[in-house]
Amino acid sequence: MSTLLATPVTVIGLGAMGRGIARAFAGHGARVTVVDADPEATRDGHRQTLDEAAGDGEPVELTAAPDLATAVAGAALVIEAVVEDMAAKKDLLATVSGAAPAEAVVATNTSSLSIGEMARALEAPHRFVGMHFFNPPTRMRLVELVRGAHTDDRTVALAGEWVRAVGKTPVVCGDSPNFVVNRICRPLYYEAQLLVTQGVEPATVDAVARCALGHRMGPLQLLDFTGLHTHLASSETALREFGEPRYRPVPLTRRLVRSGLTGRAAGRGFYDYTAEKPRAAF
Ligand code: NAI
Repeated sequence: MSTLLATPVTVIGLGAMGRGIARAFAGHGARVTVVDADPEATRDGHRQTLDEAAGDGEPVELTAAPDLATAVAGAALVIEAVVEDMAAKKDLLATVSGAAPAEAVVATNTSSLSIGEMARALEAPHRFVGMHFFNPPTRMRLVELVRGAHTDDRTVALAGEWVRAVGKTPVVCGDSPNFVVNRICRPLYYEAQLLVTQGVEPATVDAVARCALGHRMGPLQLLDFTGLHTHLASSETALREFGEPRYRPVPLTRRLVRSGLTGRAAGRGFYDYTAEKPRAAF
């Protein structure tokens, strides 16, 4: 067991990703503290994380902190997994920077935003790195380590050690919008969404992708699982950065997000999960 796992880890944001990341660390024996936007969200997220772990037969121990400053006070590694919004992340990181130990490594699980820009919210931008886990973090092996303009070698090396300590495989990549995996997959997601707007059943699109491409989940199932709000935010980052029409969000997806139909966690997205067996919502 890596000695790093004896040092405290804090996970901020207890949505799907934060809960899974907390479990991935705690499941390998790390001392994990979790915190969300407010005490109630922290309490709910903490309980949900423990329930999910127990449901998978992997009971873990996690400490819930009363507030952000307390959560990061003794941390050696802080991972933020809050909403995909630059302003929200920068606000949060400014508080983390003032409250965490000076030598702590601070990481973000952003799936699309600039690591170099986010780092500017911190007093020590060289200790900031992208640590991009995939969903579900308890099962997916790959982690993209994103080196921003300020990230130093020691931080990348330490982040890599942590990732390996929890049984994952790090790959170091540059600070380009959407990084590597989501850039490669984006054309598939885009065409899948477009096909639905052209009248093809989501279940048909997904079945074809599973059978012909050997994917475990079809692209629309995966987008519902990711959360359409998160996918939309990533598309908007790519469009803003590259300005090319192929990065334009599909209007249907924008409408779904505006209507609160953001996918599986919301009960409905491309599929309706309120039915006994998920069925296409279109
Ligand atoms: P989510 O929407 O499920 O959860 C976001 C969480 O952040 C919520 O629990 C919310 O209460 C909390 N939050 C919002 N503002 C906060 C604040 N100021 N302080 C503390 N907590 C705050 O989002 P999800 O899917 O867990 O994504 C989180 C991050 O992980 C995003 O940056 C996203 O891009 C990234 N990501 C998401 C993946 C996915 O498949 N959903 C995959 C890889 C990365």
